Amino acid sequence: MLDHPTPFRRLKNVEKLLGRGGLYIKRDDHMETALGGNKVRSLEFWLGAAIESGSDVLVVAGGAMSNLCRLTAAAAAMHGLDCVVIHNSDASETAKQQSFLNRLFGAEVRFLGRLGEDQRAGAVATAAEELRAAGRKPYIVGDAVVGALGYTVAAQELHDQAEADGIALRHVFLSGSMGPTEAGFLFGNALLGNPFAVHLVSVEYGQAELAARVARIYDDLKSNTQLQAPSFEELPIHYHMDYLGDGYGRPSPDAERALIMLARTEGILTEFVYTAKTAAAFLELSENGYIPNDEACCFLHTGGVPSLFSQFDLFRSLD
Ligand SMILES: Cc1ncc(COP(=O)(O)O)c(C=O)c1O
Repeated sequence: MLDHPTPFRRLKNVEKLLGRGGLYIKRDDHMETALGGNKVRSLEFWLGAAIESGSDVLVVAGGAMSNLCRLTAAAAAMHGLDCVVIHNSDASETAKQQSFLNRLFGAEVRFLGRLGEDQRAGAVATAAEELRAAGRKPYIVGDAVVGALGYTVAAQELHDQAEADGIALRHVFLSGSMGPTEAGFLFGNALLGNPFAVHLVSVEYGQAELAARVARIYDDLKSNTQLQAPSFEELPIHYHMDYLGDGYGRPSPDAERALIMLARTEGILTEFVYTAKTAAAFLELSENGYIPNDEACCFLHTGGVPSLFSQFDLFRSLD
């Protein structure tokens, strides 16, 4: 699904605007499969596990706009597998429209109403059980540790690209959320000897919860792969908690400014849930001296841009 590196580019117009150099972006929003995003890297490993185990149907769960669901449905289509998408939302007209791409990729879409995280996991297990009873071989997509491996590879890829371009990249900003992307990247960075300071911009949880989630996956990566890497406490992690605003998925003035700025200077799209908040931290901390002017810094764009098309109402400064 991803047979060449995603683009690594200099943000020359942003540099001009902020009056500094050394600003870069890694475009994981720029992939060939279904508009791309971080879950494509995880799907490389989930698909591998599914195919190796002889599965013939993928089961995945998420909200109606879920990037994971969309990309899983696309991956299933590409690999000749069936796909069952379970949404923990009501089957409203809006939700059906938001889930449209899943149906376009041929997935069977089920709306189970509003469910909590545990109930949703139960619904997925039940769906898999029913498929097994009908003689199918389901693979449940979403194992955090398997999925995290995608970003272990991404850390190496980014390191190689910076080195090939002669850039001493020091800082990488990425969204802090459920943890697989962050833990995988931190593990890859650790295996390289920690060349990057990793800045996690929380878009979902408080710092203790975010750190605990990432640490759990990092420790499992270490034990499952048996590779030597430093303990989680020794990693060069910087948590940024000031960009969460009113919480997960809620717009914030900072995010809106960053979103509009990147669109108008570089023609790059972000969205309110993950990448605009992360970009807000990257831009502000690069401008105000927190990231020294002589240290190169990269915003890791993890995708999710399709959700922007249902976020029109969230803008406060656009008519
Ligand atoms: C676009 C985008 N960026 C970042 C994330 C956060 O990744 P993780 O769940 O691995 O923390 C997600 C998760 O769905 C996402 O869709």
